[in-house]
Amino acid sequence: MSFPQNTGHAAPFPRLSILLHWVMAALIIVMLFVGLIMAHDPTIHYAQLFTLHRTVGFLILLLVVIRLINRFASHTPDLPHDLPVIMKLAAHLSHILLYGFMLALPLVGWAMLSAGGYPITLWGGCHIPPLIGFHPHLWGALRCLHSLLAYGLILLILAHIGAALLHGIIRRDGVLGSMLGR
Ligand code: HEM
Ligand code: HEM
Repeated sequence: MSFPQNTGHAAPFPRLSILLHWVMAALIIVMLFVGLIMAHDPTIHYAQLFTLHRTVGFLILLLVVIRLINRFASHTPDLPHDLPVIMKLAAHLSHILLYGFMLALPLVGWAMLSAGGYPITLWGGCHIPPLIGFHPHLWGALRCLHSLLAYGLILLILAHIGAALLHGIIRRDGVLGSMLGR
């Protein structure tokens, strides 16, 4: 399949949107690695990694709320007019899913620890109240859901990076540049 190539015309995202996108992208990628290490090799600094995982998880929850408010309050550049409708739909759907996963993962993590009756302490000793009551039978289901969401997010991020490279290298339509501030 060949794509029409042009030299880039999409307007840049607002500065705050760009900052939030890249800070959150870095934090989420670190969180995925930390979670996988914790779950699959608990001999590696488990307690420290878990404190980091909880703390950064809550930071991501706070940032995604700020990001959604900013998303609705600021202007998002249009996708190129010559982008096939199916690709526009895929882009919109994948962005909605990315926001959904960014919200759901920390909320499920928080609910999981609450259901198991575990204390939720962040770096510096800050204590977070439980999100739901003590329901030991729910702990297992939420733990499983947390993993499924994490693996789903990994696949979605890979597809997202693939799409960004398609825009940046093959179509050269300015979409990648719009998130790089160009
Ligand atoms: C965007 C935020 C988050 C991401 C991307 C994330 C990602 C992950 C990943 C990839 C795993 C390993 C899953 C597996 O292989 O089974 C994991 C495990 C876990 N996460 Fe998260 N997580 C997030 C937020 C949270 C939060 C906020 C909490 C708690 C407050 C939490 C608690 C846990 C726990 C308890 C485990 C299991 C560790 C173990 O098996 O020893 N996560 N997370
Ligand atoms: C190296 C990795 C990444 C690259 C190259 C990248 C690139 C981009 C680009 C070019 C856009 C603009 C696309 C458009 O307007 O259609 C975008 C938007 C977006 N990205 Fe990424 N991204 C990366 C990582 C991530 C990660 C890890 C997440 C979250 C899990 C993420 C979430 C989003 C979301 C939600 C949008 C939509 C923004 C909006 O319209 O509000 N990105 N990304």
